[in-house]
Amino acid sequence: MESTQDLSNNTTLTSTQQAQIMAAADILRAGGTVAFPTETVYGLGADITNASAISKIYRIKQRPVDHPLIVHISSLSQLAYWVQEIPEAAWTLARHFWPGALTLILPRSRHVPDNVTGGQDTVGIRVPAHPVALALLDTLGPHRALVAPSANRFGRISPTMAAHVQEELGSDVDMILDGGACDVGLESTIIRICNDSVTVLRPGGIPLSALESALDQPVTLAHKAISAIRTSGALPSHYAPDTPLSLYPAEQIWQSALKLAHENYRILVLTWSDTNKIPPINPFIEHYSMPSDPIAYGRQLYAQLRQLDHSGFDHIFVEMPPDQPVWLAITDRLERASYNQFDKKHEHK
Ligand code: TXA
Ligand code: MG
Repeated sequence: MESTQDLSNNTTLTSTQQAQIMAAADILRAGGTVAFPTETVYGLGADITNASAISKIYRIKQRPVDHPLIVHISSLSQLAYWVQEIPEAAWTLARHFWPGALTLILPRSRHVPDNVTGGQDTVGIRVPAHPVALALLDTLGPHRALVAPSANRFGRISPTMAAHVQEELGSDVDMILDGGACDVGLESTIIRICNDSVTVLRPGGIPLSALESALDQPVTLAHKAISAIRTSGALPSHYAPDTPLSLYPAEQIWQSALKLAHENYRILVLTWSDTNKIPPINPFIEHYSMPSDPIAYGRQLYAQLRQLDHSGFDHIFVEMPPDQPVWLAITDRLERASYNQFDKKHEHK
């Protein structure tokens, strides 16, 4: 078996993990699919050079084929192979944040097939920071890459643990590599660079303020209503649990929960602020207190929502996060998770 592993990425891996990575690489080379951990969320990976493996990804995810996939590469040195040009701002950001939770949208080179980009002439690309992902990419070797969306069905919550992938995709995926709980817990920040102006298409693991200080220039946030860009995270309803979820300001949340509790709905209330630590006594209301630190909150959010989804609640009420830039990615995901949910649940009642 070919071995092109760069051991610098593998120092934290056990020999069992290394053997599993070898097996995963074999599956990928044979046109199979492998779910793998990244520092953001788990990805559902296929070899970029294998068209039938890529169509399996779309089928498994039940994702529209014009929604492009992110290309995962092992290091910055691989970037030039997959893209046509690298603007100065892209170099700066890649040097600063890779490996890490930043996806750059750049003009694609001829090496990126049409079925990856949904026909667009740009490609989304990043170097993930998880040692298992990096070792897998190293094992595949140069001029190979993993195309991978998050390993969930279209529109649903991204998995942040191997067990979530198992529950969501089961035997549809050929192998699941277990790399523990994802450190960031939210997807990567997606950036488009055009004539050196930098736009955030999806807020994520890297905050805007960090981008701005690395670039020493302001960064704009694409308006949520821009739907001409086929970013699935830009669809209003996304990242959604089955249980309807609503967002409430701190001062309204208990009153609103009590209203539904009086109609015998079981409500789970998720808060983060100190002022909301003590729930009213009501048998239909349960309370979970999230961290008040955005990094810790982001790490837990999807796992919590997934667990709450299985707990038989009629509704999840979430306290609005603070209106501050470091909370942007969390607020974005909660807004999409809550989109239309309340109306959907109660219009027939
Ligand atoms: O953290 C992440 O980004 C995770 C891990 C697995 O890397 N991946 C992820 O992939 O979230 P996915 O497919 O669930 O979301 C990627 C988003 C999609 O909304 C897709 O439309 C957008 O990136 N995207 C990819 N290529 C694009 C392009 N050329 N132009 C605009 N959007 C693009
Ligand atoms: Mg996704």
